[in-house]
Amino acid sequence: MRPAPAQALRGSLVPWYRSVARDLPWRQDPSPWAVLVSETMLQQTRVDTVVPYFHRFLDRFPDAAACAAASEDEVLGLWQGLGYYRRARFLHAAAKAAQAGFPETVQGLRALPGVGAYTAGAVASIAFGIPAAAVDGNVERVICRVDGFGDDPRRAAGRRHLQARVEAIQDASVASEVTQGLMELGATVCSPQRPDCGACPWRAVCVARHTDRIEALPNLPARKKPVAVQGTAVVVMRGEQVLLARRPPGLLGGLWEPPWQPDPAGETAGVAALLAARVGLPATQDLHPLGQVVHVFTHRRLTLTVWGMAVSTDVPTPVAPGFYEAMAWCPRGVPGVALSKLAHRILGVVGDGESG
Ligand code: ADE
Repeated sequence: MRPAPAQALRGSLVPWYRSVARDLPWRQDPSPWAVLVSETMLQQTRVDTVVPYFHRFLDRFPDAAACAAASEDEVLGLWQGLGYYRRARFLHAAAKAAQAGFPETVQGLRALPGVGAYTAGAVASIAFGIPAAAVDGNVERVICRVDGFGDDPRRAAGRRHLQARVEAIQDASVASEVTQGLMELGATVCSPQRPDCGACPWRAVCVARHTDRIEALPNLPARKKPVAVQGTAVVVMRGEQVLLARRPPGLLGGLWEPPWQPDPAGETAGVAALLAARVGLPATQDLHPLGQVVHVFTHRRLTLTVWGMAVSTDVPTPVAPGFYEAMAWCPRGVPGVALSKLAHRILGVVGDGESG
């Protein structure tokens, strides 16, 4: 069985998409800025999670200029809990770069900070009607299956093949519908496991279906397991306030958290005392273990042992140059700074009896 002609795929995809498209907030006013924000948020994050963040972000930053004028702290604050914070910093940088005029070509979009082939293709096709390809994981799966494409789609040759195939399916008259139709098909019908082939507009021409390779495609290399690492955190209370520290650029850069550090040898009591001293709090008699949290980053699974410590209300704000960028005593319930999910988890270990 041969792959279907691109024109036939487009011809059945577009009317299907028009009849089933979900009513998602970025589809109502697909301005270039709104599409850039939604596509950036939707990388690595599910639609249901993104929707409330998208509303809050667009309410506060209705256009790139509003975002460009804001502080990084505020942008990160609105991103709090979405994870992969590099995306927020890139979006902020892209908003600043777009001050000279929002780019209206794929090449122009790709020159924005953090914008790769996928995002450029998505914004170009959805906001500007340019027949560009936007190949994400969903689109990759849909195309590999309908074509019965058995090579690794993440290798250079595979990527080129998928890009060219989607460009062939594209057309200037329906560019947005093709991009979003492919995404919708991947998200709602052609799922990784047990796809709903009965609901698919391509069921009659799907090579994977007719050759019984649906769950074997796409042919991706096995994922590596995240490496297990350990760390130790200290939650320092000063009355009702908790000590939070702002991370330097890099992993979770710019976000606030209770101080923690890696603990490769698992010597958590010693590391907790060291950590307290490192942030300028030498009186560690009161250190006591509170529990553990587990947090999975892309390639690492971090198990943190959390210690508690109370200091008297006259202890000044510590500084730890070369470790944390800044530190502050923050109200425990509503810290008022951007916290990572990891920081929320660490603070969650502190029971109600810990305050004061
Ligand atoms: N996933 C990535 N982009 C999307 C979009 N525009 N609509 C729905 N799901 C998506």
